[in-house]
Amino acid sequence: MRKILIAGNWKMNRNVEESRSLAADIVAELGEIQSVDLLICPPYTSLDRVHGVIAGTSIQLGAQDMHWEKEGAYTGKVSAGMLQSVGVTSVILGHSEQRTYFHETDRTVNQKTVAALEAGLTPIVCVGETLEEREGGKMEGVIRTQVMEGLKGFSPSDLEKIVIAYEPVWAIGTGKTASPEQAQDVHAFIRGLLKELAGDVSDKIRILYGGSMKPDNAAGLLSKPDIDGGLIGGASLKAADFAGIARAAG
Ligand code: PGA
Repeated sequence: MRKILIAGNWKMNRNVEESRSLAADIVAELGEIQSVDLLICPPYTSLDRVHGVIAGTSIQLGAQDMHWEKEGAYTGKVSAGMLQSVGVTSVILGHSEQRTYFHETDRTVNQKTVAALEAGLTPIVCVGETLEEREGGKMEGVIRTQVMEGLKGFSPSDLEKIVIAYEPVWAIGTGKTASPEQAQDVHAFIRGLLKELAGDVSDKIRILYGGSMKPDNAAGLLSKPDIDGGLIGGASLKAADFAGIARAAG
């Protein structure tokens, strides 16, 4: 059985004090919950403070990106080891905003995934098609390339440690959610790709849905057999909404 994972991606929102306060509200709402795994991914500047707030609870700390090198002359970047040193256990990689605005490619996603696994972090590898690609009949090709290139070269035992997030670009931050059936179709397709890469281990890999998941649509999405959790943007910035999604999952 794959345990549901509800992950909050705060993106470039909340300064240190605001992050402390949001994390404290989330702990008050969900600190005791055991039925689902919970992860929050604040901006880098808030990681250390938020780590202090969630210490001793079941809520885990994640980051939103990282560089693949361990250290060196890479102005503006942070490494997996640095993330680990502030208590991070998971890292989002290949988010569509990174792909669109910051030149992320399947190759850099692959390099980052290697580095994250080496450091003992759980990579959350994001894939998803644009509306144009979907309407042009290119969706499966796009997702196949993102999965196969992003995850190239990993053994089944490595793949077992990875989480995938399917985030249709047209649903991110738009209020348009994929229907549970639309999402399930793509999740099942991704599960098939994982089976090509990892055989039966594919049944153990969690595939999250992301894109305007809210308390009122979460239960429908999470009831589908291949939807194993959510990567939540906007609704993760309100403790009550994030908690509503986690409860819908539980
Ligand atoms: P959203 O973002 O929930 O605001 O659509 C999801 C994401 O980008 O991870």
